[in-house]
Amino acid sequence: FQPKVLAGKRILVTAGPTFEAIDPVRGITNLSSGKMGYAVARAAREAGAEVVLISGPTALPTPFGVQRINVQSAQQMYDEVMRAVHGQHVFVSVAAVADWRVANPSTQKMKKTGDGTVPDLKFEQNPDILATVAQRTSLAGYPYCVGFAAESENLLEYGAAKREKKGIPLLVGNIGHHTFGQDDNTIILFDENGHTILPRADKLTLARALISEISKRIDKHSLF
Ligand code: C5P
Repeated sequence: FQPKVLAGKRILVTAGPTFEAIDPVRGITNLSSGKMGYAVARAAREAGAEVVLISGPTALPTPFGVQRINVQSAQQMYDEVMRAVHGQHVFVSVAAVADWRVANPSTQKMKKTGDGTVPDLKFEQNPDILATVAQRTSLAGYPYCVGFAAESENLLEYGAAKREKKGIPLLVGNIGHHTFGQDDNTIILFDENGHTILPRADKLTLARALISEISKRIDKHSLF
């Protein structure tokens, strides 16, 4: 039984990888399984929140009682987040959003040529969804923002810096880079007072602890 610490609150969660098309049958993605984001969505719902989950491609079932919107690319995730975000009390950005997309995707399946010529892919940067939402935090109707960071080294230093750079009150760092697809995780919470380590546990246990930490913090944050 989970205490209903988010009763009456609306929470928006992004999860999973994004998929950036190269042509209609190929693309670039990453190893995010979506497990942590789905655990956060589930824990938020258990805590009494109304939950919208915007998800990149995953093999996971939708958590009970959660409204799920499927997307593929970072741009689609950006568009759906921007459509849904106003009126949300909390935004938890767990998705492993691709930093770059293919600037010149082919509308037809690219053909292998006999002479060994390879495709000339160009890249362009995707919008930063979390930073965009965070910029609006002071406006009426915009949420308290929580970000995630998967760093492979110097997490303590990078985590604190990333929180500031993104302009968010709370950043969750994953320890190590072996977390993708795993059921267990160790996380560090960075806020304006420093950092707190949550000991290694399964992702649902950590997600419940995170929801509890968020609920304590939004009591102080001026919600509409
Ligand atoms: O800058 P970096 O990708 O390490 O930041 C990670 C955090 O930013 C995560 O919360 C991720 O969901 C979010 N993010 C985003 N849009 C991007 C890139 C990252 O929302 N284009």
